[in-house]
Amino acid sequence: FSLRNYNTFGIDAKAKFFVEINLVQDLQDILADDTYPDKFILGGGSNMLITKDIDALVIHVNLKGIHIQNEDEDFVEIKVMAGENWHEMVLWTLENNFGGLENMSLIPGNTGTAPIQNIGAYGVELKDVFVGCEAVRRSDQNLMYFTKEECKFGYRDSFFKNEGKDKYVITSVILKLTKNNHAINTSYGAIEEELKKSNIINPSIKQVSNAVINIRNSKLPNPKELGNSGSFFKNPVISKIAFDSFIAKNPEAPFYKVSEEEYKIPAGWLIEQSGYKGKRFGDAGVHKKQALVLVNYGNAKGLDILNLAHKIIEDVKSEFGITIQPEVNLIK
Ligand code: EPU
Repeated sequence: FSLRNYNTFGIDAKAKFFVEINLVQDLQDILADDTYPDKFILGGGSNMLITKDIDALVIHVNLKGIHIQNEDEDFVEIKVMAGENWHEMVLWTLENNFGGLENMSLIPGNTGTAPIQNIGAYGVELKDVFVGCEAVRRSDQNLMYFTKEECKFGYRDSFFKNEGKDKYVITSVILKLTKNNHAINTSYGAIEEELKKSNIINPSIKQVSNAVINIRNSKLPNPKELGNSGSFFKNPVISKIAFDSFIAKNPEAPFYKVSEEEYKIPAGWLIEQSGYKGKRFGDAGVHKKQALVLVNYGNAKGLDILNLAHKIIEDVKSEFGITIQPEVNLIK
């Protein structure tokens, strides 16, 4: 069974067995079933690079549904099933005039995988609207609830990427959104510029969403047209000491101050300066408008993309002394 249409990189890897799950009970049953000892959980396939065929039962989590759990005058809590496409869910919240997700418009992938790496964009992260999530524990198939604290969110990081890795299947996510939209966040420079272009001063959530969609469309390739997995690397966080010597040598480099002790450098800048932006090696390449994004021009193998990533990591390291790390999940 080809997984080409199930991963946004468009890698033509094969699954030995494949099943699509529409009910939590079916997920529990299949996890308990010993006929297939090796199981591989697949959500939206938007944050992974598959570098080999998968010799296992691939379980595609396709649980659907969005419903309101709780609400008052100011806030609403919605429960979104894991298989709901993230952006379609964001559009649903905008139609209902629920605020909080507008900055995270157009992020590829499904809602159930959003907590794993605490997705984020344009000044907002999932953790800012997150209440909790439900997940089936793979070892005993119990349905468990995780609070926000238990998820241990960090920058593109969570419990599910660390201690909880490969132990749970997230089945739903609970989000708290605003009804009166007092918390609009346009602090990210690119959003301000985009709104200014259309002379918008007090934007609605829909206008913020449209601004984000325009920015993303201008920089990030649409996976339906060009295989990719969004940012391939994380922006490296370095110590104050490392930062001081880095910025002395590269005074023009962009950076974000994380704390007194830590600074984040855009990996896209490091990669562009290392000469990779827009470069193509066979069908594997670095996107021409955003160097943080690796792309599949058609028939790249997962290993072609992985080799390119390794070359980039080495060259950035020798150029700047900074080690960048993949953000995508590497299936090796
Ligand atoms: N830059 C370059 N060259 C490039 C790309 C970026 O010099 O080719 C420099 C620019 O100076 C720019 C700065 O890097 O000012 C930051 O670029 P951008 O605003 O595009 O954001 P980013 O740090 O590269 C992060 C997220 C994106 C998210 C944007 C906007 C990570 C790993 N990536 O990218 O997330 O959309 O900020 O918030 O944190 C994703 O995770 O898949 C993703 C796309």
